[in-house]
Amino acid sequence: MPNELTPDSLDRARDEGLAALAEAPDLAALAVLKPAVLGDRSPLAVARKAVGALPGPERADAGKRVNALSQELTRAYDARRVALEADRDARVLVEEAVDVTVLAGRLPVGARHPLTTLQERAVDVFVAMGWELAEGPEVEHEWFNFDALNFGGDHPAREMQDTLFVAPEGSGLVMRTHTSPVQVRSLLNRELPVYVVCPGRVFRADALDATHSPVFAQLEGLCVDEGITMAHLRGTLDAFASAMFGDGLKTRLRPSYFPFTEPSAELDLQCFHCRGDAALQPCRVCSSEGWIEVGGCGMVNPAVLRACGVDPDRYTGFAFGMGLDRAVMVRHGVTDIREIYEGDLRFTLPFGLEA
Ligand code: PHE
Repeated sequence: MPNELTPDSLDRARDEGLAALAEAPDLAALAVLKPAVLGDRSPLAVARKAVGALPGPERADAGKRVNALSQELTRAYDARRVALEADRDARVLVEEAVDVTVLAGRLPVGARHPLTTLQERAVDVFVAMGWELAEGPEVEHEWFNFDALNFGGDHPAREMQDTLFVAPEGSGLVMRTHTSPVQVRSLLNRELPVYVVCPGRVFRADALDATHSPVFAQLEGLCVDEGITMAHLRGTLDAFASAMFGDGLKTRLRPSYFPFTEPSAELDLQCFHCRGDAALQPCRVCSSEGWIEVGGCGMVNPAVLRACGVDPDRYTGFAFGMGLDRAVMVRHGVTDIREIYEGDLRFTLPFGLEA
């Protein structure tokens, strides 16, 4: 009888195998142990090989004993695996428990800036009247910003202290000082008649303080068609004021001068709070003036139409431009324009729910 098949060595293989299986602390250890107990080079496998080499009569008996050992070790292995799996499942249930009643973490959703909201509402009012949205670049060529708009070569707006020029000197580029160059671009790029509204950021060489910012927002409007008169300008502005700031709110035009409109006017909006009613004054929105200055307007200067290839004998038009920051400030009681541009969420969040 070869050594591997003596009762002693089979017993030892069994005892050691069972002990090792019983001690395997977890499934990973059990997996490592499995080849040592049941694998190709385990004492069991060695014994099975030795059985094959025995002469016939001895083989049957030895084979039976080796099979019994194999079954016992396999059963012990399976039982240990089932037990360890049950342990693991029980532990996972505790350790990886999820409290489904805990409130979900919320991602901050931010808020829309009041300037954006006001700008979109303003554009919507014009789009509802059939106008189109037009936009232009913030870095603009002097020709669009000044020349085509009938500014003379020596106009003070062309000075360094008013306008931000883009380097290098002589580049011909400026940060647009108003949205009026979009008038020119619209007339050059579109078929007549033109009805466009152009919101955008504009830039001036102003120091930042409570009432001035080197960047601010304007809303430009341009209409060029046959038979347009100042009455159309007035009606459009009144319709806009009513839709935007309250039913029946009026506008007021005061004579003024812009190179690109003739005649030109300053545009005032009736105070949406007191509407000039002494009973509601003193009024902190308009300083009891009854009116709020919002921008300029006028009939498009024929020189501008000509610069854009439009025949001024056939077409006339009106244009207006207004500051949107002022509107946000009076509407929401913002006293410092810097708050609009600093990007502090504590300023923006309270406006977040406005449509
Ligand atoms: N562009 C002018 C400004 O910035 C406003 C304006 C626009 C005036 C259109 C008349 C017509 O002050």
